[in-house]
Amino acid sequence: MNLKTTFSVAAVVAASCAAGGAQATELEVTHWWTSGGEAAAAAELAKAFNATGNTWVDGAIAGSGGVARPIIVSRIIGGDPMGATQLNHGRQAEELIEAGLLQDLTEVAEAEGWADFVNPTSLLDSCTLDGKIYCVPVNIHSWEWMWLSHQAFEDAGVDVPADWNEFVAAAPALQEAGKVPLAMGGQGWQQNGAFGVLTYAIGGVDLWSQINADKDAEAAAGPEMGKIFEAAAAARELAKDSNVQDWNQATNLVITGQAGAQIMGDWAQGEFQVAGQVAGEDYTCLPGLGLNEIISTGGDAFYFPKLDDPAKTEAQLKLASTMISKQVQVAFNLKKGSLPVRGDIDLSAANDCMKKGLEILAAGGIVPTGDNVLTADTTGQMEDLQTEFWSDLSMTAEEAQARYADIISDAD
Ligand code: GAL
Repeated sequence: MNLKTTFSVAAVVAASCAAGGAQATELEVTHWWTSGGEAAAAAELAKAFNATGNTWVDGAIAGSGGVARPIIVSRIIGGDPMGATQLNHGRQAEELIEAGLLQDLTEVAEAEGWADFVNPTSLLDSCTLDGKIYCVPVNIHSWEWMWLSHQAFEDAGVDVPADWNEFVAAAPALQEAGKVPLAMGGQGWQQNGAFGVLTYAIGGVDLWSQINADKDAEAAAGPEMGKIFEAAAAARELAKDSNVQDWNQATNLVITGQAGAQIMGDWAQGEFQVAGQVAGEDYTCLPGLGLNEIISTGGDAFYFPKLDDPAKTEAQLKLASTMISKQVQVAFNLKKGSLPVRGDIDLSAANDCMKKGLEILAAGGIVPTGDNVLTADTTGQMEDLQTEFWSDLSMTAEEAQARYADIISDAD
């Protein structure tokens, strides 16, 4: 298939109008939303696209993004592209864009005024390369959350902690009650994500940016980051009996009261909802671990490989418009547990945690996420280091920090 063929968006739309309006077209859509909450959210996107008369052919890939992304990228580069795919917006798609393999969405974005309602505008910037827009952002997902089980703390006879420090202090009581203090799955992206949350919460925004955005290896090796590695070592100790792999299995330990808490992105909230649990009643969410109330504006977006088929291209543009429409933004994000990318919709149905996120967003407490400033390669090296650190209890915080500083010094 000649992937280099390009169709101007206007020509595609004109052709379809001449053909008497929209055609029913199938699009294979790849993503890695396979947990209960994620699948419920993905179903909202599929339902909305099918309602346009086209057909969403679901291409869910089990496992986390770390499993799905290489499969997605190699299919596009290998000439076997899907119709649309989830990726995290930011630098993950950089090489695909530079290779000319992804559909430029600028014309439809400008025609619909995405820049006027996408909030914060950094989300659209994360879809933009050399002034052109290549993805449609569908949510703000933030890593900066901790989820705490009311049942576990009640069983342990201690109050639900109001921040990370109170949580660490309550850990012995949890252990006494037979609970796993901190639930953590056995995958590097989970451990690396939690490490980033600890960095923001304990080290602060400036330290995080100095290292991840400015690639300051000296700061990475410095005493302030030393405190973060000590906190990570403490977290590793509190999580050592988790014995689960996938992030939603760790979330389930919290939902069932077997574990006290989990540091995980807002997608965990979809699992609590599927389990029928109510924020503020059955669980508590602590943005920024209760120490530094911020949310990072990472998120999910959909990209559209260039296809040699005007009908498919038209359907791709229709899917992009559908995903960012008001009603789909509400329906999808309420199920996903993430925040909408639009500032002009009514989210009165939002629960306590989503309301906390929206308040932080409205107050401007937003910070970049790793995907915005780190290449996929650097992120992969960090995840590998965390996998080693969390699985080998003999690896000291100092040894891990030295390796981390080396990664930062080589990062571009
Ligand atoms: C992230 C994705 C989230 C959630 C998470 C766990 O990369 O953006 O939506 O799916 O992986 O799978």
